[in-house]
Amino acid sequence: MYDFRIDAADKPSLYAELNEAAAALVAGEPDPIANMANVAALLWESLPELNWAGFYRNVGGELVLGPFQGRPACIRIPFGKGVCGAAAATLEPQCVADVHAFPGHIACDAASRSELVVPIVVDGRLVGVLDLDSPRPGRFDQEDVAGCVILIQRLKTALAGMAEEGTKG
Ligand code: SME
Repeated sequence: MYDFRIDAADKPSLYAELNEAAAALVAGEPDPIANMANVAALLWESLPELNWAGFYRNVGGELVLGPFQGRPACIRIPFGKGVCGAAAATLEPQCVADVHAFPGHIACDAASRSELVVPIVVDGRLVGVLDLDSPRPGRFDQEDVAGCVILIQRLKTALAGMAEEGTKG
């Protein structure tokens, strides 16, 4: 059983703790879907004010829904479309304070008002994206961007299915 309780005073501490917990969760597990599922659940439990947390995977040059927490979502997103598609096309994180003002935003859940998407890139290849949605406009700031970028950087081989197989501690 895993029981991570993250109760940090500020965002940098929160992300530092999340980073350690996430690394422990994926340690020794080579299956990318299992790792995405556990990381989505950890983020969902640990980050306040989210209504969706999960992954889209690059399947043949198209984003396809991966493991997530929240309401059922759109399954396929072309590169360049919406916030996730913008992250996939540019390979840059997208932090959108007001999704209603974002051209081409895909409204999977009408409650979503702000969004943070971080691409997962391994050896220059897009593996997929991490997508966080919030019902609060302006929920995500540069500390969230930095925290999630560092998290994805640390987890990327585990999320790509390229991590070394090993024994769980
Ligand atoms: N809003 C996203 C689509 C994915 S859902 O939010 C889960 C977008 O515009 O890319």
